[in-house]
Amino acid sequence: MDPSGACWSSSLKIDVFTLFPEWFDWFAGQRHVRNALDAGTELRFFNYRDTTPMGGGQVDDAPYGGGAGMGLRVDVVDAALSAAYGDIGTPGRVLLLAPSGRQLDDALASELAAEPQVALLCGRYEGVDERVREHLATDTISIGPYVLSGGELAAMVLADAVLRKLPGALGHAESAIEESFSPALGGAPEYPHYTRPASYRGWEVPEVLLSGDHARVREWRLEQSRSQHAGSRDG
Ligand SMILES: C[S@@+](CC[C@H](N)C(=O)[O-])C[C@H]1O[C@@H](n2cnc3c(N)ncnc32)[C@H](O)[C@@H]1O
Repeated sequence: MDPSGACWSSSLKIDVFTLFPEWFDWFAGQRHVRNALDAGTELRFFNYRDTTPMGGGQVDDAPYGGGAGMGLRVDVVDAALSAAYGDIGTPGRVLLLAPSGRQLDDALASELAAEPQVALLCGRYEGVDERVREHLATDTISIGPYVLSGGELAAMVLADAVLRKLPGALGHAESAIEESFSPALGGAPEYPHYTRPASYRGWEVPEVLLSGDHARVREWRLEQSRSQHAGSRDG
């Protein structure tokens, strides 16, 4: 349990379903991700093409009703999930990545960090047959109101936001507790940080941070956080 009271598991399993598992090689090699893996988190990859019921490795098809582009077939996604989970049953959260989904935020990242296992379904082409959303996914998640070429980068963004909350991922566990949008800051952006030198080209570090007065520093930081929050709400 972390100091804010949330119960985050170091044994979270993240299963990524994709046509491009090699995209994740770089991600999986990053220090904080390796730390989380060493601490018990599992990151697995499933290539839709390995289990497609179609001949010749086909995974997509033309849209009914006509129109541009191809869609990822529902039977292909279903076959990938069945091959991965068989009789065990799919995880409680099967997340379809799509521009139109629930927008990822800190609260959702915390929610997912408390799950034992999540499956991430990366789309491609014009998207995924709607029956995946209707019958196979439990959630549809977007990383923002813009369109990427595929779900892989979205899956990495989501996995990163979740993994840094898990025990062992960060060098300093406290770093993930009092961060922008966290409950510790009442959902507000984090206060500004300054480091050495104290004076650079006439740009000064605020005097309070050099004072050594921890109570004043704390008060200043919380005030900065609150005023940024008010500023962002006022647009
Ligand atoms: C080219 S996009 C499909 C866009 C779709 N035609 C539309 O207009 O909404 C292909 C895949 O990228 C992923 N994707 C694109 N943008 C995304 C976003 N903002 N958040 C999450 N996933 C995204 C989804 O998995 C999607 O199926």
